[in-house]
Formats: sequence, C-alpha cells, structure tokens
Amino acid sequence: MTNKYMYFIANWKMYGGIKTLDSLNKVISFSKTHTKNKIKIIYCPPFTLISSLSQKVKNTSIEVGAQNCHESQKYASLTGQINSSMLKQVGAKFVILGHSENRQTGDKNKLINKKIKSSLKAGLKVILCIGESLREKSKNKTKKILKNQINNCLSGIKKSSKIIIAYEPVWAIGTGLIPKLDNLKKNILFIKNILKNKSVKVLYGGSVNIQNIKDLKKIDPIDGFLIGGDSRDSKKFIDIIKKTYI
Ligand code: PGA
Repeated sequence: MTNKYMYFIANWKMYGGIKTLDSLNKVISFSKTHTKNKIKIIYCPPFTLISSLSQKVKNTSIEVGAQNCHESQKYASLTGQINSSMLKQVGAKFVILGHSENRQTGDKNKLINKKIKSSLKAGLKVILCIGESLREKSKNKTKKILKNQINNCLSGIKKSSKIIIAYEPVWAIGTGLIPKLDNLKKNILFIKNILKNKSVKVLYGGSVNIQNIKDLKKIDPIDGFLIGGDSRDSKKFIDIIKKTYI
C-alpha cells in the first residue's frame, strides 16, 4: 500500500484514432472523483491526437505529452519532423525522450541531450527514458549504462526540476517480463543517487500490468509508472492506478 503522490503515464506509441479518444471518458470521470491530490495522469498519444486529446482533457487534472520531437527549435526544411515548440502550441506539456524504440532507430545520448535542451526551452517537461538491453544486463553492465545515459543525456541541463526519469529495461518492454523486485529497487535507488537534483521523480516502465502492479507498488522509491500496452485499455489503466493504492 502506498500513499505517495504517483505518476501514471500512458505511452500509446503508434496507436489510436479520433474515435479511440471516446474510451478516455472513463479515465476522465475516474480522475475527477478519485484522484485529485494523489496522482498525476499524463497521456502521450501519437502526434496526430495531441490537439484533440488536449481539448478533451481541458478542465481536468489529466495532462498531455508527446512521444518524441526534433531537436531543432527553428522551422526548417525537415520533411516529416515536428519540434518541441510545435508540440507546445497544440497542447503538449510533456515529451517522452530517449525511449528505447527511438534509441534503436538512431537517437543517441548526444542527440537526446539536444532534444531535452530544446524541449525545456520550448516550455515542455521531459520524461527521459533510460535502461539497459538484455545483452548489457547479462554482462553486468546495467549500472554503467544507466550512469552513462543519465550523465550524457542531462549534460549541461540546469532545469532538472522539469525532468522525470523513466527507468525502462529494454528487455522488459512489451515482453511480459519485469525485473526481480530487489534488483529493481536497487536500480531505482542507484539512479536517484546519481541525479544531482534529489527531487527528480524516477518511474518504472516495462510490462506494467494489473497482475504485477501488486508487487511493483511495494517498491517504495518508485514515483510512478510509464505504461505502454495496458494504457490503451482505459479499464486496465484505471485498475492499475486503483491497485497501486489498495
Ligand atoms: P509496455 O511499454 O508497458 O507495453 O511494456 C512500456 C513503454 O514502452 O514505455
């Protein structure tokens, strides 16, 4: 049982159309009745839904984020790209950066650092994803990787109060696997220890579901969850939130 203020961030990835937003009605009424001072719900839909979703959750405590952005602040000849100022204009308050699915397609720590700086400048808060691959884990390199990702991604960043860290072991994303609880606790504490600003929130992400939340919620230093698959189903998402507090 926890009484802590917790973050529940829905990462919809490449999912959802205008009609999907109807399913949020349940979450909106839940947020109005149950969650006022205890939790922060943030939806990160694909770019195409940021504007409509922001309109939908206007006047509620739910906030909206994007899933990535280009590092350039200026308008530029970059076909298909979207920058942080553009996201801000359509209602995003947060942006996920450094997700392993984007790291796999070329987002390196140095580039993520530029994206973070540009997003903070645009007035967005950043959800920075970090985490080791299975190969790195099996070679006992987890701590080295986490330290490297944090130090390089956050290099030269002063506004760390605008950053949330999401620890997402790559091997736990979408696989149904989660870390051993004592290892997870150690890694969350290790991350908190490296961070210069001790008030930065550290979340866990990777296969969070209604079953494993019973165990995950017992890990005291976790400040919330970044949820992919099970955030697309409003009932499951609400149940995960409820179970965190039971
Ligand atoms: P998952 O995704 O909950 O489906 O494992 C989490 C994420 O990728 O952020």
